[in-house]
Amino acid sequence: MEQNPRLIDPFQRAITYLRVSVTDRCDFRCVYCMSENMTFLPKKQLLTLEELDRLCSAFIDLGVQKLRITGGEPLVRRGIMTFFEGMKRHLDAGTLKELTLTTNGSQLEKYATDLVNSGVKRVNISLDTLDEKKFAEITRWGRLAQVLRGIDAALAAGLRVKINTVALKGFNEDELFALQEWCANRNMDLTFIEVMPMGDIGNEDRLGQYWSLKDLRARLAEKFSLVDLAERSGGPANYVRLNETGQKIGFITPLSHNFCESCNRVRITCTGEIYTCLGQEGKADLRAPLRESPQDDAPLIAAIHAAIGTKPKGHDFDYSRGDVAGQMTRHMSHTGG
Ligand code: 5AD
Ligand code: SF4
Repeated sequence: MEQNPRLIDPFQRAITYLRVSVTDRCDFRCVYCMSENMTFLPKKQLLTLEELDRLCSAFIDLGVQKLRITGGEPLVRRGIMTFFEGMKRHLDAGTLKELTLTTNGSQLEKYATDLVNSGVKRVNISLDTLDEKKFAEITRWGRLAQVLRGIDAALAAGLRVKINTVALKGFNEDELFALQEWCANRNMDLTFIEVMPMGDIGNEDRLGQYWSLKDLRARLAEKFSLVDLAERSGGPANYVRLNETGQKIGFITPLSHNFCESCNRVRITCTGEIYTCLGQEGKADLRAPLRESPQDDAPLIAAIHAAIGTKPKGHDFDYSRGDVAGQMTRHMSHTGG
């Protein structure tokens, strides 16, 4: 069979990383992510598990090597393990190099072993605080103990765990070293994320939440010697190693440092829209070509190529002028982070 051409965008970036949101729903309501009263999409608008499989398989045929499943909370999607089990065939074939997910950890106690059996080796787990009360405050609906049990289950199942922490001014500044040490003790990597202006979140104050990772890094450097690492995980993080503990700390800095030049990824929402940039409104519909042509993938492949041909150079998030510029109207749970 003729190999389809690789996906190359107008700026000569090869697209090898696909992030797919499988649901917009979540069992938490993190204050920087969702408003308390979210309206979710009607189920029939979602791609079915079969459609998700076809779509991801098409991208893998087109050269995607890394697939990250996101949400909302991906593990609250009914039947999602069937999808993971299906993707294993691409890992076994060697075309897909990595299958992974970003999760809030609430369902990992139940699913960690099944994920491992589907070929998942690493998971990113979001956790902003180790304090039970603060955890309940920031996630509104979450319970820390359940997530901690999920993390333990992931480690016990042999998954490599990376903790993702949103850096929030006045919220987890005082837990920087507690989080770092807790991760070091469990042999988990830790990545900090600057809070991004995604979606209407009610009365929360974006600028008030923003804790620059330049500042966070400087504080780490007061206690540890940091070695910059050239390596990249295929994602947008920059890493340092703490000499004293050997652990890796990542920084995702969409606001204080722009990383668009090396972008290798696109995102699919749970309704089958492709977003070629997290920080731009540009999108295209892939559900129609999927549904209108259930047997033949040619229209889908053409739509994917067309979308990649519109991938913009970068995002326009900017807080530097003292207001929130480049704000996105959609929520993070829509495009999955
Ligand atoms: N800014 C930065 N990170 C966010 N996340 C959700 N909303 C935002 C936001 N507005 C994070 C979650 C999780 C990842 C999927 O995205 O905490 O770690
Ligand atoms: Fe759910 Fe993650 Fe959004 Fe929190 S940040 S509400 S866990 S999707």
